[in-house]
Amino acid sequence: MSVIMHTLHVELGERSYPVYIGRDLFTDGSLVGRHVIGSEVAIVSNTTVAPLYVPKLRRALGKGRRITEIVLPDGEQYKTLASLEHIFERLLQERHSRSTTIIAVGGGVVGDISGFAAACYQRGVAFIQVPTTLLSQVDSSVGGKTAVNHALGKNMIGAFYQPLAVLIDTDSLRTLPARELSAGLAEVIKYGLICDREFYAWLQHSMPKLLARDEGALAEAIERSCSNKARVVAADEREGGLRAILNLGHTFGHAIETAQGYGNWLHGEAVAVGMLLALRLSVARGWVDAAEVPILEDLLRQAQLPVQIPAGMTPEVFLDLMGRDKKVIDGRLRLVLLRAIGEALLVEDVGSDELVALLLDALERAKGSC
Ligand SMILES: NC(=O)c1ccc[n+]([C@@H]2O[C@H](COP(=O)([O-])OP(=O)(O)OC[C@H]3O[C@@H](n4cnc5c(N)ncnc54)[C@H](O)[C@@H]3O)[C@@H](O)[C@H]2O)c1
Ligand SMILES: [Zn+2]
Repeated sequence: MSVIMHTLHVELGERSYPVYIGRDLFTDGSLVGRHVIGSEVAIVSNTTVAPLYVPKLRRALGKGRRITEIVLPDGEQYKTLASLEHIFERLLQERHSRSTTIIAVGGGVVGDISGFAAACYQRGVAFIQVPTTLLSQVDSSVGGKTAVNHALGKNMIGAFYQPLAVLIDTDSLRTLPARELSAGLAEVIKYGLICDREFYAWLQHSMPKLLARDEGALAEAIERSCSNKARVVAADEREGGLRAILNLGHTFGHAIETAQGYGNWLHGEAVAVGMLLALRLSVARGWVDAAEVPILEDLLRQAQLPVQIPAGMTPEVFLDLMGRDKKVIDGRLRLVLLRAIGEALLVEDVGSDELVALLLDALERAKGSC
């Protein structure tokens, strides 16, 4: 039987929507049905997730609806305009009208592509997110950023398009590979660091339960993460300022992901190391007590995330890749640092000397630990 453990709201005026967190939500026809507009539904998923969860969702939607299932190949490399074109082709072949509801069932890749498809198809149709990775449950499904990649840059083509509802079923995390669960935990830890000190303290002693996939602990961590994200998004939907704090560790992280080749380090793994670098820089500026560094290292290790920068990455490689990051505006590198644990701020005055010193120190530590 389905149980809703938490319901929260993303407050965006007429585009506000609920986020339900609970167990067995796929089987609850009335819950999904409440947000489906009209009788036409297109479920977008991928080859890994579809066999696991789409049949349950179809049953919950019942017989009275016309359902088209669109199953994409699995992987970030398919987050492309070609996949988008495939979705449009299927929708048109099956004569889906303006009153179709698109439901995304999968991780952030499926969610991002489907959201963009929903934003564009007939100038915008109803959209529901059913995220099935921890990362997509705590991050990508909430906030309305949708996109596909281009050969010349990740997430470069997209739109802001909010869903009508987000259904987070913690049961779906049971089948998630352990490494993907840990990658999601990096984003969970991020919320504690940037804006929720109390949650950060809770994570210190709840990590074993989270790794053991305890339903209650997972629901709590997802709720706190989504509430924090919802608050930031409600204040700054289109990333005019505040929303950028969600990128703590990401500029360093993107440099690691790119240097290692996409897929070799998961996004969350790279962000983990990036957050540690941002914390060290905040300590070097005298804002945060140095005792916080081993505390974060311990938390990341508990979450089975890396804490050292990859061997072979020199400060030059970092600086070059960081300079190409999306967060560079008018030639100025913007970094998210911490004024304190639970309080992020955006800085634009980090000089290359300061970065080189930080990275050389981190490289020494990485060598020392080999
Ligand atoms: N829109 C945003 O605000 C935002 C924020 C963060 C990340 N993103 C995007 O999200 C994407 C990454 O998302 P992700 O980490 O969820 O990766 P993903 O979608 O590639 O999923 C990771 C892997 O887990 C599999 N999977 C998903 N759910 C599963 C389940 N329940 N059981 C078993 N396997 C399952 C997937 O098929 C895939 O192989 C990136 O493209 C990134 O750009 C978007
Ligand atoms: Zn991220």
